Amino acid sequence: MTSIPTVSFQAVEDLAARFPTGFFWGAATSSYQVEGAVAEDGRGPSIWDDFSATPGRVVDGQSGAQAADHYHRYREDVALMARLGLNAYRFSIAWPRVLPEGRGLVNQAGLDFYDRLVDALLEAGIQPFVTLYHWDLPSALEHEGGWRARSTAYAFADYAEVVARRLGDRVLHWMTLNEPWCSAYLGYGIGVHAPGLRDRQAAVDAAHHLLLAHGLALPRMRAILPAQAQIGTAQVLVKVYGADERPETQRDVALAHAFSNRWFLDPLYRGCYPEGLFAALGLNPPPIEEGDLELIAAPLDFLGVNNYSRMLVRGSPEPPLADQCRTVSPVPNACYTDMAWEIFPQGLRDLLLDVSREYPVQRLYVTENGAAFPDEWDGGETVHDPRRVAYLASYINACAEALEQGAPLCGYFVWSLLDNFEWAEGYRKRFGIVYVDYASQRRVMKESAHWYAALLQSFHARS
Ligand code: NOJ
Repeated sequence: MTSIPTVSFQAVEDLAARFPTGFFWGAATSSYQVEGAVAEDGRGPSIWDDFSATPGRVVDGQSGAQAADHYHRYREDVALMARLGLNAYRFSIAWPRVLPEGRGLVNQAGLDFYDRLVDALLEAGIQPFVTLYHWDLPSALEHEGGWRARSTAYAFADYAEVVARRLGDRVLHWMTLNEPWCSAYLGYGIGVHAPGLRDRQAAVDAAHHLLLAHGLALPRMRAILPAQAQIGTAQVLVKVYGADERPETQRDVALAHAFSNRWFLDPLYRGCYPEGLFAALGLNPPPIEEGDLELIAAPLDFLGVNNYSRMLVRGSPEPPLADQCRTVSPVPNACYTDMAWEIFPQGLRDLLLDVSREYPVQRLYVTENGAAFPDEWDGGETVHDPRRVAYLASYINACAEALEQGAPLCGYFVWSLLDNFEWAEGYRKRFGIVYVDYASQRRVMKESAHWYAALLQSFHARS
């Protein structure tokens, strides 16, 4: 495939008609990536403040200190969401705003912000989907070992309870963790994310403590939240394909799948880690204590799927380490986004179908999907981003196919509402359907935002 299909504004009606009444259409962000105001109203430092302040870690030495200034502009942003026709918004709570030291003293001023945000969303008819941990760990906890330490999992459960008590009367959709695979492997294993450690064994231990944090938080949240509240997690998942039929390719596809997907899904849904995974990484199993796996595997109401691309594996002659399988990149004739991620919408369809067949998932949400392109604003009323329109149309079409083939998909969230701080890549990678001019903080709807609004308008007109 050399190009992705261009979809006219006409076709949105046909596309919208393939989604059932009650489907959630949203956009997603996370606290450190959009809020800014890192020193306001008693917020404590997080590992991303520290990491960004370390020379050489983030492109151009950038940080989330100002970001999209959403902390001050949330009302304008909620109005934008209403204009788009969103009926859901996924955002995360900054743990260091709520507990500046990670545990102990609760900072009511920090919680007040989310209280106001939730009220503004509900007034606009937008359901809040809250993520409790989207990577901004309070620095104080990192000083005690961060996710390498079991105690962080207990601190997380306390934090989850504090937030559930404050927002649980209005928020019905909760995610404990966002992409713990990234927190563990990118943060502790290869050091490209905060806290920047390069210790693969630490990644395995951190992964277990992240899962444990989720498992400990679940019953604490359930005890507070109303019965109809839904709790899940958001996982980064990728469909792994083989580049050929050779047995060594099949073997390496299985290895890459265990490392990329099953590492977190198996404990969550089967109560065990994939057999042989730690040996295949050349590492020891994490320190699992009695009862951990039962806690981790407690029933979930939904699985959030974050997906952008696919993985194409070509077998090596000798079995590689599970995190070092050979991938085909670039794929000849394929299209790529600005992140150098291959555009492969069928990968999302196949992934949603696989996950719903292999695990007892009650509901699925695509909690993130989208694309970075080097958008430019000429000072006018919109930003021309035809490639993002084509990307979204093709991936939403893939969601419709998955639904039609039986995946219990209940919602779709585009990443992202706004251009924002793309972690180690800084502000250069623009994922928003709304352009942010960082100098003025002006928001400009890109053509993809107009396209998404047209899709949603057509959807709402039918339901
Ligand atoms: C994964 C993360 O959850 C989000 O924070 C990030 O910006 C996007 N995907 C794009 O990389």
